[in-house]
Amino acid sequence: MKPLYLPLILTLLAGSATAQTDSPATVPSSTKEWTAAENADNPLYLKQSPGGRADDYQRSDYGLGPNFIDRLPPYPPGGKGVRTPFDIWRYGGKAGSSFTTPALPMPWDEWVSFHARQKPELMKDVRDYMASRFDFSGKSMGDHQMSGGRKAIMAGPVARLPEGVASFDAIAELSATEIRDRDLFPYKPLAHPLQTTAHMVFPDSWIKAHPEHARIDMDHDFPDAYLPEFPPPLFLTTHKELGDVSGGREITLGNYWDIFEGLLTPEQMEGVKELLRPSPTTWFNQTHHRVTLAPSAGVSCMDCHVNGHTNAAFELAPDTRPNQTRLRVDTPTMRGNYNMMQLSSKRSVRSMDHFSEIEEYFDGDPGMMQHIGPRGVQRSVTNRMGDFNAIIDFPPAPKLGPLGKLFADQATEQELRGEALFHGKASCSQCHYGPAFTDDYMHDLQVERFYKGRPEGPIKTFALRGIKDSPPYLHDGRCPTLHDAVEFFNIVLELKLSAQEREDLVAYMLCL
Ligand code: HEC
Ligand code: HEC
Repeated sequence: MKPLYLPLILTLLAGSATAQTDSPATVPSSTKEWTAAENADNPLYLKQSPGGRADDYQRSDYGLGPNFIDRLPPYPPGGKGVRTPFDIWRYGGKAGSSFTTPALPMPWDEWVSFHARQKPELMKDVRDYMASRFDFSGKSMGDHQMSGGRKAIMAGPVARLPEGVASFDAIAELSATEIRDRDLFPYKPLAHPLQTTAHMVFPDSWIKAHPEHARIDMDHDFPDAYLPEFPPPLFLTTHKELGDVSGGREITLGNYWDIFEGLLTPEQMEGVKELLRPSPTTWFNQTHHRVTLAPSAGVSCMDCHVNGHTNAAFELAPDTRPNQTRLRVDTPTMRGNYNMMQLSSKRSVRSMDHFSEIEEYFDGDPGMMQHIGPRGVQRSVTNRMGDFNAIIDFPPAPKLGPLGKLFADQATEQELRGEALFHGKASCSQCHYGPAFTDDYMHDLQVERFYKGRPEGPIKTFALRGIKDSPPYLHDGRCPTLHDAVEFFNIVLELKLSAQEREDLVAYMLCL
């Protein structure tokens, strides 16, 4: 470069920096509608064609219409770290920006002390809120254990009944409108306790083994008794004769070779290693944009899908904005994913290879990935991760035959009654069928008929094979036990099942 040009370039660079910092007032805000005349006068605004617009587009006969939107208040403002309402499902619409920045809203030391002050207050309120919604009394279902045989299955329903209501039957007798208008629905959505910062939250059992994942700003909000066993067993489709191959251990980078040498192909071995290798995420990384005290190596797939199952870590689904609209999503198991074409609750990812490639450690924000350390994995590698995923089996279901029917000579009367209901009066098998007990479609259960809030739209039918091992239930975990899931469907599908029939369905699902 000729020295002559250097000052000129520096001046130009400085000029553009000034233009950016001095002129935010002239950049249109996301909420203001700029008129065509203002746009024409604004040198910063991209010139656009006026386009077409129907002035009567908010007429109520277009879709849900303005009346529906009017019922929902706009989102309260909130930046990183700012507390959000626990009933975030009451709000709706557009807010803030789709884009975020890799900068903290304050210097690092302040960020740490801000959360040291806020976290105890926040967690006290979170626990009070959870206690107002659920009675985590700790009652288990007698001798029913999860597949590893080390953890009891909890009894329910644990959702609290609204004040003045005597029973779940009393709610199920009412119409959807009456339940909504009287605010009686026990299964409203669950929010992330800090929806603006959002991101991954690990359960206490995991944090005990992996203190590097403890967040400075919040903890998990479920008691461990209501979460899957840790570490969970791992079953392989290729080695059914071995049962659990994990030997009661959490599979780590340190022991995977000993566990799998002589069992896996070299491709699968490479895949499992990659599933165990941590990589940076939006909030777990080596920069100051983080929620751990020390810089973090990040997380690995199996930090949530531990041993190919789940530890019930939760996240927000990465698929919408603002952050406040993102649905809380509980980590699903990877068992039996070989039988599914529809992966994740709303994103409809169509293969495990693809999932390994795109898994949204950066919350759907490629800009953040650039700043914090990309997890760009080559396709040959993600294919191998998919190869390992493809041999993770469901747990054994000894009472279930090759046609997906209970063996009549092995099941109890109650389990057989539950099976008949599942395929009959309760219509569960309309969506839960086939080898994994899912139709592999998304369904809109239209749960917003029962509460005043934002519709969540279609959600994937989760598989019910091995379901006893995967509490809490539904995409956000709002049904802590199988009993709660049955109460949920009894109300939402307006089934009017008796208390005995609901127990029978639970007994049946324990066999799957
Ligand atoms: C923060 C914990 C966490 C980590 C780390 C994680 N996942 Fe997930 N995984 C989830 C959650 C939560 C969902 C549900 C997402 C949704 O519903 O949109 C999910 C869904 C999936 C699914 C779809 C399962 C189904 O039943 O629909 C697959 C496959 C998957 N993850 C694979 C991976 C792979 C591969 C990695 C590593 C690259 C990974 N996950 C890392 C939490 C995690
Ligand atoms: C119209 C289709 C449909 C019918 C009928 C149906 N389900 Fe589901 N099921 C779903 C969908 C969709 C989900 C996921 C909903 C969500 O996460 O918000 C689901 C989730 C579940 C879950 C939680 C799974 C998990 O991994 O968290 C259980 C348990 C369940 N259903 C049991 C039942 C039972 C029992 C019945 C019958 C009483 C039934 N379902 C009827 C579609 C259906």
